[in-house]
Amino acid sequence: MTSNPRLIFKKCVGGGLPVVGEHIKFDNTPKIDLDNVPLKGGFLSKTLLLSPEPSMRERMRDPSLPSYTTAYNVGEIITGFGLVVVLRSEREGVKVGDYMYGITTWEAYTVQPYVEGRVDVTKYPPGTFDMDSLALQPVPNPNGMYPLSHYASILGTPGLTGYVGFQGIIQGKEGETIFVSSGASGVGNMVIQLAKSKGMKVIASAGSDIKVEYMRSLGADVPFNYKKESYDSVLAKNGPIHAFWDNVGAEALDAALAHARNYARFAICGTAATDNVPNEERYRLKNAHLIMKKCIKLYGFIVPDFLPQFMGQFLQEVPTMIGQGKLKSKELLVEGIENAAQAIVDMLNSGHDVIGKPVVIVAKE
Ligand SMILES: NC(=O)c1ccc[n+]([C@@H]2O[C@H](COP(=O)([O-])OP(=O)(O)OC[C@H]3O[C@@H](n4cnc5c(N)ncnc54)[C@H](OP(=O)(O)O)[C@@H]3O)[C@@H](O)[C@H]2O)c1
Repeated sequence: MTSNPRLIFKKCVGGGLPVVGEHIKFDNTPKIDLDNVPLKGGFLSKTLLLSPEPSMRERMRDPSLPSYTTAYNVGEIITGFGLVVVLRSEREGVKVGDYMYGITTWEAYTVQPYVEGRVDVTKYPPGTFDMDSLALQPVPNPNGMYPLSHYASILGTPGLTGYVGFQGIIQGKEGETIFVSSGASGVGNMVIQLAKSKGMKVIASAGSDIKVEYMRSLGADVPFNYKKESYDSVLAKNGPIHAFWDNVGAEALDAALAHARNYARFAICGTAATDNVPNEERYRLKNAHLIMKKCIKLYGFIVPDFLPQFMGQFLQEVPTMIGQGKLKSKELLVEGIENAAQAIVDMLNSGHDVIGKPVVIVAKE
Protein backbone atom coordinates (compact mmCIF):
# COMPACT_ATOMS: atom_id res chain seq x y z
CA MET A 1 0.00 0.00 0.00
CA THR A 2 1.15 3.52 -0.81
CA SER A 3 0.51 6.61 1.24
CA ASN A 4 -2.07 8.94 -0.35
CA PRO A 5 -1.85 12.32 1.45
CA ARG A 6 -4.52 14.92 0.74
CA LEU A 7 -6.06 18.25 1.74
CA ILE A 8 -9.47 18.16 3.43
CA PHE A 9 -11.90 21.09 3.55
CA LYS A 10 -12.82 21.26 7.24
CA LYS A 11 -14.81 24.44 7.70
CA CYS A 12 -16.25 27.36 5.70
CA VAL A 13 -14.30 30.61 5.85
CA GLY A 14 -16.19 33.79 6.83
CA GLY A 15 -14.31 37.10 6.51
CA GLY A 16 -10.51 36.88 6.55
CA LEU A 17 -8.03 34.34 5.32
CA PRO A 18 -8.37 30.57 5.73
CA VAL A 19 -6.36 29.10 8.60
CA VAL A 20 -4.28 25.98 7.99
CA GLY A 21 -5.51 23.19 10.24
CA GLU A 22 -8.84 24.91 10.97
CA HIS A 23 -10.32 25.40 7.48
CA ILE A 24 -7.95 23.28 5.39
CA LYS A 25 -6.34 20.23 6.95
CA PHE A 26 -3.53 18.05 5.65
CA ASP A 27 -4.31 14.34 6.12
CA ASN A 28 -1.45 11.91 5.69
CA THR A 29 -3.25 8.76 6.86
CA PRO A 30 -5.03 7.37 3.73
CA LYS A 31 -3.39 4.58 1.73
CA ILE A 32 -3.99 3.33 -1.79
CA ASP A 33 -3.19 0.07 -3.60
CA LEU A 34 -1.87 1.49 -6.86
CA ASP A 35 -1.85 -1.88 -8.66
CA ASN A 36 -5.29 -3.09 -7.69
CA VAL A 37 -7.55 -0.14 -6.85
CA PRO A 38 -10.68 -0.56 -9.07
CA LEU A 39 -10.86 2.00 -11.86
CA LYS A 40 -14.54 1.44 -12.77
CA GLY A 41 -13.94 2.53 -16.36
CA GLY A 42 -11.88 5.54 -15.33
CA PHE A 43 -8.15 5.98 -14.82
CA LEU A 44 -5.62 6.27 -12.02
CA SER A 45 -3.62 9.49 -11.93
CA LYS A 46 -0.54 10.58 -10.02
CA THR A 47 -0.53 14.27 -9.12
CA LEU A 48 2.57 16.12 -10.30
CA LEU A 49 1.70 19.70 -9.48
CA LEU A 50 -1.10 21.77 -8.00
CA SER A 51 -2.01 25.38 -8.68
CA PRO A 52 -3.25 27.51 -5.73
CA GLU A 53 -5.68 30.06 -7.21
CA PRO A 54 -7.86 32.84 -5.77
CA SER A 55 -11.10 31.13 -6.88
CA MET A 56 -10.39 28.49 -4.21
CA ARG A 57 -11.03 31.14 -1.54
CA GLU A 58 -14.43 31.81 -3.10
CA ARG A 59 -15.22 28.11 -2.94
CA MET A 60 -14.48 28.11 0.81
CA ARG A 61 -17.45 30.41 1.53
CA ASP A 62 -20.70 29.42 3.19
CA PRO A 63 -22.53 27.66 0.30
CA SER A 64 -25.70 29.65 0.99
CA LEU A 65 -23.93 32.79 -0.27
CA PRO A 66 -24.34 33.29 -4.02
CA SER A 67 -21.23 33.46 -6.20
CA TYR A 68 -19.92 32.77 -9.69
CA THR A 69 -18.67 29.37 -8.60
CA THR A 70 -19.86 26.40 -6.58
CA ALA A 71 -18.70 26.01 -2.95
CA TYR A 72 -16.64 23.17 -1.43
CA ASN A 73 -18.31 20.45 0.62
CA VAL A 74 -17.13 20.30 4.23
CA GLY A 75 -15.35 17.01 4.91
CA GLU A 76 -14.42 16.42 1.26
CA ILE A 77 -11.04 16.56 -0.42
CA ILE A 78 -10.31 20.02 -1.80
CA THR A 79 -10.41 20.26 -5.58
CA GLY A 80 -8.49 22.70 -7.75
CA PHE A 81 -6.34 22.94 -10.83
CA GLY A 82 -3.48 20.51 -11.20
CA LEU A 83 -1.33 18.55 -13.60
CA VAL A 84 -1.38 14.77 -13.37
CA VAL A 85 0.17 11.82 -15.18
CA VAL A 86 -1.82 8.67 -15.95
CA LEU A 87 -0.62 5.46 -14.20
CA ARG A 88 -3.36 3.03 -15.26
CA SER A 89 -6.37 3.45 -17.52
CA GLU A 90 -9.63 1.78 -18.53
CA ARG A 91 -10.82 4.93 -20.28
CA GLU A 92 -10.80 4.97 -24.06
CA GLY A 93 -8.51 7.70 -25.35
CA VAL A 94 -6.57 8.03 -22.07
CA LYS A 95 -3.21 6.24 -22.10
CA VAL A 96 -0.63 5.41 -19.46
CA GLY A 97 1.93 8.24 -19.42
CA ASP A 98 -0.48 10.93 -20.67
CA TYR A 99 -0.21 14.31 -18.98
CA MET A 100 -3.53 15.93 -18.12
CA TYR A 101 -4.41 19.37 -16.78
CA GLY A 102 -7.65 20.56 -15.17
CA ILE A 103 -9.60 20.29 -11.95
CA THR A 104 -8.47 17.40 -9.79
CA THR A 105 -8.55 16.38 -6.15
CA TRP A 106 -5.68 17.69 -4.05
CA GLU A 107 -4.21 14.33 -3.16
CA ALA A 108 -1.22 12.32 -4.35
CA TYR A 109 -3.20 9.70 -6.35
CA THR A 110 -6.78 9.78 -7.64
CA VAL A 111 -9.11 7.37 -9.37
CA GLN A 112 -10.58 9.69 -11.99
CA PRO A 113 -13.08 10.99 -12.46
CA TYR A 114 -13.44 11.72 -8.75
CA VAL A 115 -17.19 11.85 -8.16
CA GLU A 116 -17.88 11.47 -4.44
CA GLY A 117 -17.26 15.14 -3.74
CA ARG A 118 -19.18 16.53 -6.71
CA VAL A 119 -21.43 19.34 -5.58
CA ASP A 120 -25.12 19.38 -6.35
CA VAL A 121 -25.24 22.22 -8.89
CA THR A 122 -29.04 22.38 -8.75
CA LYS A 123 -28.61 24.04 -5.33
CA TYR A 124 -26.93 27.05 -6.89
CA PRO A 125 -28.46 30.09 -8.61
CA PRO A 126 -28.45 30.20 -12.41
CA GLY A 127 -25.16 31.55 -13.73
CA THR A 128 -23.10 29.82 -11.02
CA PHE A 129 -20.34 27.89 -12.68
CA ASP A 130 -19.66 24.30 -11.61
CA MET A 131 -15.91 24.60 -11.21
CA ASP A 132 -15.50 20.84 -10.90
CA SER A 133 -16.81 20.42 -14.43
CA LEU A 134 -13.46 21.63 -15.80
CA ALA A 135 -12.35 18.07 -16.20
CA LEU A 136 -8.79 16.97 -16.87
CA GLN A 137 -7.72 17.44 -20.49
CA PRO A 138 -4.67 15.96 -22.19
CA VAL A 139 -1.80 18.42 -22.61
CA PRO A 140 1.18 18.28 -24.90
CA ASN A 141 4.70 19.24 -23.85
CA PRO A 142 6.50 19.10 -27.17
CA ASN A 143 10.23 18.51 -26.81
CA GLY A 144 10.17 19.85 -23.26
CA MET A 145 9.95 23.33 -24.79
CA TYR A 146 8.67 24.76 -21.50
CA PRO A 147 8.73 23.42 -17.94
CA LEU A 148 5.61 21.61 -16.76
CA SER A 149 5.22 24.21 -14.00
CA HIS A 150 4.03 26.62 -16.72
CA TYR A 151 0.76 24.65 -16.60
CA ALA A 152 0.05 26.33 -13.26
CA SER A 153 0.86 29.78 -14.61
CA ILE A 154 1.06 31.04 -18.14
CA LEU A 155 -0.30 27.87 -19.76
CA GLY A 156 -2.83 27.31 -16.98
CA THR A 157 -5.78 29.30 -15.67
CA PRO A 158 -3.90 32.57 -14.95
CA GLY A 159 -2.47 32.72 -18.48
CA LEU A 160 -5.74 31.59 -20.02
CA THR A 161 -7.68 34.21 -18.04
CA GLY A 162 -5.40 37.01 -19.19
CA TYR A 163 -5.46 35.78 -22.76
CA VAL A 164 -9.20 35.31 -23.25
CA GLY A 165 -10.13 38.51 -21.43
CA PHE A 166 -7.59 40.50 -23.41
CA GLN A 167 -8.84 39.11 -26.73
CA GLY A 168 -12.50 39.29 -25.82
CA ILE A 169 -12.71 42.62 -23.96
CA ILE A 170 -9.55 44.72 -24.06
CA GLN A 171 -8.68 44.31 -27.75
CA GLY A 172 -5.77 46.69 -27.25
CA LYS A 173 -4.35 48.84 -30.03
CA GLU A 174 -1.01 50.51 -30.55
CA GLY A 175 -0.75 53.88 -28.81
CA GLU A 176 -3.51 53.18 -26.28
CA THR A 177 -2.96 53.30 -22.52
CA ILE A 178 -4.02 50.45 -20.24
CA PHE A 179 -3.96 50.22 -16.45
CA VAL A 180 -3.45 46.70 -15.01
CA SER A 181 -4.12 46.28 -11.27
CA SER A 182 -2.20 43.52 -9.49
CA GLY A 183 0.15 43.42 -12.45
CA ALA A 184 2.56 41.00 -10.76
CA SER A 185 -0.13 38.36 -10.27
CA GLY A 186 -0.30 35.35 -12.56
CA VAL A 187 -3.09 36.97 -14.59
CA GLY A 188 -1.52 40.44 -14.51
CA ASN A 189 1.79 38.99 -15.73
CA MET A 190 0.04 37.79 -18.90
CA VAL A 191 -1.97 40.95 -19.48
CA ILE A 192 1.07 43.26 -19.21
CA GLN A 193 2.95 41.21 -21.80
CA LEU A 194 0.02 40.98 -24.21
CA ALA A 195 -0.57 44.72 -23.92
CA LYS A 196 3.09 45.43 -24.64
CA SER A 197 3.02 43.06 -27.63
CA LYS A 198 0.24 45.27 -29.05
CA GLY A 199 2.22 48.46 -28.50
CA MET A 200 0.14 49.80 -25.60
CA LYS A 201 1.44 52.02 -22.81
CA VAL A 202 1.08 50.02 -19.58
CA ILE A 203 0.49 51.44 -16.10
CA ALA A 204 0.58 48.61 -13.53
CA SER A 205 0.20 48.36 -9.75
CA ALA A 206 1.43 45.88 -7.14
CA GLY A 207 1.94 45.82 -3.39
CA SER A 208 5.73 45.82 -3.05
CA ASP A 209 8.88 47.29 -4.59
CA ILE A 210 10.15 43.86 -5.67
CA LYS A 211 6.93 43.35 -7.60
CA VAL A 212 7.31 46.82 -9.14
CA GLU A 213 10.71 45.79 -10.52
CA TYR A 214 9.24 42.53 -11.78
CA MET A 215 6.49 44.39 -13.65
CA ARG A 216 9.14 46.67 -15.14
CA SER A 217 11.01 43.58 -16.38
CA LEU A 218 7.81 42.48 -18.14
CA GLY A 219 7.75 45.78 -20.00
CA ALA A 220 5.36 47.89 -17.89
CA ASP A 221 6.02 51.59 -18.59
CA VAL A 222 4.65 52.93 -15.30
CA PRO A 223 4.87 50.21 -12.64
CA PHE A 224 4.05 51.46 -9.12
CA ASN A 225 3.58 50.32 -5.53
CA TYR A 226 0.00 51.10 -4.51
CA LYS A 227 1.03 50.99 -0.85
CA LYS A 228 3.35 53.97 -1.44
CA GLU A 229 1.58 55.95 -4.20
CA SER A 230 -2.17 56.25 -4.55
CA TYR A 231 -3.92 54.79 -7.61
CA ASP A 232 -5.49 58.18 -8.11
CA SER A 233 -2.26 60.18 -8.20
CA VAL A 234 -0.50 57.79 -10.59
CA LEU A 235 -3.43 57.68 -13.00
CA ALA A 236 -3.86 61.48 -12.82
CA LYS A 237 -0.23 61.83 -13.92
CA ASN A 238 -0.09 59.03 -16.52
CA GLY A 239 -3.67 58.67 -17.78
CA PRO A 240 -6.27 58.99 -19.05
CA ILE A 241 -6.72 55.32 -19.86
CA HIS A 242 -8.34 53.62 -22.85
CA ALA A 243 -8.58 50.28 -21.04
CA PHE A 244 -8.47 48.85 -17.54
CA TRP A 245 -7.70 45.30 -16.47
CA ASP A 246 -8.95 44.95 -12.90
CA ASN A 247 -7.81 42.13 -10.62
CA VAL A 248 -8.43 44.12 -7.46
CA GLY A 249 -11.59 46.31 -7.36
CA ALA A 250 -12.18 48.93 -4.61
CA GLU A 251 -9.83 52.00 -4.80
CA ALA A 252 -8.18 50.74 -8.00
CA LEU A 253 -11.53 50.56 -9.79
CA ASP A 254 -12.66 53.92 -8.41
CA ALA A 255 -9.46 55.61 -9.61
CA ALA A 256 -9.71 53.92 -13.01
CA LEU A 257 -13.27 55.23 -13.42
CA ALA A 258 -12.09 58.73 -12.53
CA HIS A 259 -9.27 58.64 -15.10
CA ALA A 260 -10.93 56.73 -17.94
CA ARG A 261 -11.49 58.14 -21.38
CA ASN A 262 -14.98 58.10 -22.84
CA TYR A 263 -15.85 54.62 -24.14
CA ALA A 264 -12.96 53.00 -22.20
CA ARG A 265 -13.07 49.18 -21.96
CA PHE A 266 -12.92 47.71 -18.45
CA ALA A 267 -12.27 43.96 -17.98
CA ILE A 268 -13.43 43.20 -14.43
CA CYS A 269 -11.51 40.05 -13.67
CA GLY A 270 -11.08 39.95 -9.89
CA THR A 271 -11.79 41.64 -6.59
CA ALA A 272 -8.65 40.77 -4.60
CA ALA A 273 -8.90 43.88 -2.41
CA THR A 274 -12.20 42.78 -0.91
CA ASP A 275 -12.14 38.99 -1.23
CA ASN A 276 -11.14 38.52 2.41
CA VAL A 277 -13.21 41.38 3.85
CA PRO A 278 -16.64 40.85 5.46
CA ASN A 279 -19.42 42.29 3.29
CA GLU A 280 -20.38 45.09 5.69
CA GLU A 281 -16.77 46.36 5.69
CA ARG A 282 -16.30 46.25 1.92
CA TYR A 283 -15.17 49.40 0.09
CA ARG A 284 -18.09 51.16 -1.63
CA LEU A 285 -17.44 52.80 -5.03
CA LYS A 286 -17.63 56.59 -5.23
CA ASN A 287 -17.34 56.95 -9.01
CA ALA A 288 -19.90 54.44 -10.27
CA HIS A 289 -21.91 57.33 -11.79
CA LEU A 290 -19.07 57.82 -14.31
CA ILE A 291 -19.78 54.44 -15.94
CA MET A 292 -22.78 56.00 -17.66
CA LYS A 293 -21.45 59.53 -17.97
CA LYS A 294 -18.30 58.34 -19.80
CA CYS A 295 -20.08 55.48 -21.61
CA ILE A 296 -17.52 53.08 -20.07
CA LYS A 297 -17.86 49.50 -21.31
CA LEU A 298 -17.55 47.56 -18.08
CA TYR A 299 -17.47 43.78 -18.48
CA GLY A 300 -17.44 41.37 -15.56
CA PHE A 301 -16.41 37.95 -16.86
CA ILE A 302 -15.30 34.48 -15.92
CA VAL A 303 -13.02 32.41 -18.13
CA PRO A 304 -15.65 29.90 -19.32
CA ASP A 305 -17.54 32.80 -20.99
CA PHE A 306 -14.79 33.00 -23.59
CA LEU A 307 -13.54 29.42 -23.90
CA PRO A 308 -15.56 28.45 -26.98
CA GLN A 309 -14.30 31.55 -28.78
CA PHE A 310 -10.64 31.66 -27.77
CA MET A 311 -9.46 28.34 -26.30
CA GLY A 312 -8.17 27.00 -29.63
CA GLN A 313 -6.35 30.25 -30.33
CA PHE A 314 -4.78 30.18 -26.83
CA LEU A 315 -3.46 26.64 -27.34
CA GLN A 316 -1.97 27.61 -30.70
CA GLU A 317 -0.57 31.02 -29.96
CA VAL A 318 0.70 30.94 -26.37
CA PRO A 319 3.07 27.94 -26.57
CA THR A 320 4.47 29.43 -29.77
CA MET A 321 5.03 32.82 -28.12
CA ILE A 322 6.71 31.10 -25.14
CA GLY A 323 8.94 29.13 -27.49
CA GLN A 324 9.92 32.34 -29.28
CA GLY A 325 10.76 34.02 -25.96
CA LYS A 326 7.92 36.54 -26.41
CA LEU A 327 6.09 35.54 -23.22
CA LYS A 328 7.71 35.01 -19.84
CA SER A 329 6.42 33.51 -16.66
CA LYS A 330 7.83 33.29 -13.17
CA GLU A 331 6.79 30.50 -10.86
CA LEU A 332 7.29 30.15 -7.13
CA LEU A 333 7.87 26.45 -6.51
CA VAL A 334 6.61 25.02 -3.22
CA GLU A 335 7.83 21.49 -2.53
CA GLY A 336 5.42 18.88 -1.14
CA ILE A 337 1.66 18.47 -0.81
CA GLU A 338 2.10 18.90 2.96
CA ASN A 339 2.85 22.57 2.23
CA ALA A 340 -0.08 23.08 -0.18
CA ALA A 341 -2.50 24.52 2.42
CA GLN A 342 0.03 27.18 3.45
CA ALA A 343 0.69 27.91 -0.22
CA ILE A 344 -3.03 28.70 -0.66
CA VAL A 345 -2.97 31.10 2.30
CA ASP A 346 0.26 32.80 1.13
CA MET A 347 -1.18 33.23 -2.35
CA LEU A 348 -4.20 35.08 -0.89
CA ASN A 349 -2.09 37.32 1.31
CA SER A 350 -0.98 40.56 -0.35
CA GLY A 351 1.73 40.96 2.30
CA HIS A 352 3.43 37.83 0.96
CA ASP A 353 6.29 39.58 -0.79
CA VAL A 354 7.45 36.82 -3.09
CA ILE A 355 7.17 36.99 -6.86
CA GLY A 356 5.84 34.24 -9.00
CA LYS A 357 2.74 32.20 -9.45
CA PRO A 358 2.74 29.57 -6.67
CA VAL A 359 3.04 26.00 -7.88
CA VAL A 360 3.00 23.07 -5.47
CA ILE A 361 5.29 20.27 -6.63
CA VAL A 362 3.71 17.04 -5.39
CA ALA A 363 5.88 14.60 -7.34
CA LYS A 364 8.56 14.73 -9.98
CA GLU A 365 7.75 13.20 -13.35
N1 LIG B 1 -12.59 36.12 -13.86
C1 LIG B 1 -11.98 34.95 -13.90
O1 LIG B 1 -12.39 34.00 -14.58
C2 LIG B 1 -10.71 34.79 -13.13
C3 LIG B 1 -9.88 33.67 -13.32
C4 LIG B 1 -8.67 33.60 -12.61
C5 LIG B 1 -8.33 34.61 -11.71
N2 LIG B 1 -9.19 35.66 -11.52
C6 LIG B 1 -8.86 36.76 -10.62
O2 LIG B 1 -7.71 37.40 -11.11
C7 LIG B 1 -6.97 37.95 -10.04
C8 LIG B 1 -5.54 37.49 -10.15
O3 LIG B 1 -5.51 36.05 -10.05
P1 LIG B 1 -4.10 35.30 -9.98
O4 LIG B 1 -4.35 33.84 -9.96
O5 LIG B 1 -3.23 35.86 -11.01
O6 LIG B 1 -3.64 35.81 -8.54
P2 LIG B 1 -2.26 35.70 -7.77
O7 LIG B 1 -1.11 35.50 -8.68
O8 LIG B 1 -2.48 34.74 -6.66
O9 LIG B 1 -2.16 37.15 -7.16
C9 LIG B 1 -3.14 37.71 -6.35
C10 LIG B 1 -2.63 39.06 -5.91
O10 LIG B 1 -3.69 39.88 -5.46
C11 LIG B 1 -3.11 40.95 -4.79
N3 LIG B 1 -3.89 41.41 -3.67
C12 LIG B 1 -4.28 40.70 -2.59
N4 LIG B 1 -4.91 41.53 -1.72
C13 LIG B 1 -4.91 42.75 -2.29
C14 LIG B 1 -5.42 44.03 -1.89
N5 LIG B 1 -6.04 44.19 -0.73
N6 LIG B 1 -5.28 45.07 -2.74
C15 LIG B 1 -4.66 44.92 -3.93
N7 LIG B 1 -4.14 43.74 -4.35
C16 LIG B 1 -4.29 42.69 -3.54
C17 LIG B 1 -1.75 40.48 -4.26
O11 LIG B 1 -0.74 41.23 -4.91
P3 LIG B 1 -0.06 42.49 -4.22
O12 LIG B 1 1.05 41.96 -3.37
O13 LIG B 1 0.39 43.29 -5.36
O14 LIG B 1 -1.08 43.18 -3.36
C18 LIG B 1 -1.70 39.03 -4.71
O15 LIG B 1 -0.40 38.61 -5.03
C19 LIG B 1 -7.67 37.50 -8.75
O16 LIG B 1 -8.48 38.55 -8.30
C20 LIG B 1 -8.53 36.33 -9.20
O17 LIG B 1 -9.67 36.16 -8.40
C21 LIG B 1 -10.36 35.75 -12.21
